[in-house]
Amino acid sequence: MILVVGATGHLGMEVSRRLATGDEPVRALVRSTSNADSLDRLRGLGIELVNGDLQDRASLDSACGGVDAVISSASSISSRVGSYIATVDLEGQRNLVGAAKGAGVDRFLFVTLSGNMTTDSPLNRAKRAIEGEVQASGMAYTILRSSFFMEYWLSPLIGFDYPNRKATIFGAGENKITWITIGDVALSLASAVGNPGARHQVIEIGGPEVLSPNDALRIFEGVMGAPFEVQYVPEAELEAQMNTDDAHTQSVTALSLDFAHGDVVDTAKMTALLPFQRTTVRQYVEALPAG
Ligand SMILES: NC(=O)c1ccc[n+]([C@@H]2O[C@H](COP(=O)([O-])OP(=O)(O)OC[C@H]3O[C@@H](n4cnc5c(N)ncnc54)[C@H](OP(=O)(O)O)[C@@H]3O)[C@@H](O)[C@H]2O)c1
Repeated sequence: MILVVGATGHLGMEVSRRLATGDEPVRALVRSTSNADSLDRLRGLGIELVNGDLQDRASLDSACGGVDAVISSASSISSRVGSYIATVDLEGQRNLVGAAKGAGVDRFLFVTLSGNMTTDSPLNRAKRAIEGEVQASGMAYTILRSSFFMEYWLSPLIGFDYPNRKATIFGAGENKITWITIGDVALSLASAVGNPGARHQVIEIGGPEVLSPNDALRIFEGVMGAPFEVQYVPEAELEAQMNTDDAHTQSVTALSLDFAHGDVVDTAKMTALLPFQRTTVRQYVEALPAG
């Protein structure tokens, strides 16, 4: 039995879809506030739904019963219904590691930020702390440290408004990134879960090419046949935004600074342990409905 925590999210849903066609049964931890369509999709995949919350340890103890592997992609960062970085990304994930260990779970797979993302923030500290706790837990761990997801950072969700041919780019747009699709992160998790080579491994993951945001912009303009109106957010402006007590704002701004600094991940270990054909930025753009 594989337990997916975060299954109603963008990444968790993709992982669940891939795991549902495999041999091991899949269980998803969902909340009473989770989106009804997402719950229906999970049910339609034949996945067992259990109610719980990372902030409720007892619900995790029960969800982990009879489970061989836990995959956690949950985060409060863009899913804020009663969820906060301190209680979900830190204490909540800590609860899950404890519950999994207590239930005798064999493997724990955790999705976190690439090693280049070093701007200090509550989210960054939580992610690094949980990486350490998963590794110290005694369970076989696979920690996937991912580069920037195209579906967020090259989409209207984060200001790259391609349907309206407008883009907001953090920084000068020249520092390179190993962009990855959510589908490829999901495939990495699904390939890692039963893979003996991925046990006790921290694996940096990224896409097949190294391109700056401006390179990606030119691909969009070429495929969509029109120039974009671009607005660059200077790093100094982002640094000024870090000066707040709000953990969420600080964490999102820190990620924007990491983006501005660039994120070139060494994917040698990924391609050796989890070999599959990864999606390029051009393929991502060509598949968009507004293309
Ligand atoms: N975006 C990037 O470029 C990037 C890069 C590297 C790593 N990552 C990591 O990738 C992971 C997956 O992101 P995503 O896009 O799938 O996020 P997402 O769509 O926002 O999904 C978040 C998931 O976490 C669940 N969740 C939130 N609070 C919870 C709680 N208190 N108890 C249990 N579940 C809770 C949500 O459930 P509900 O549906 O009930 O709200 C949802 O299933 C995150 O860990 C993120 O840090 C992202």
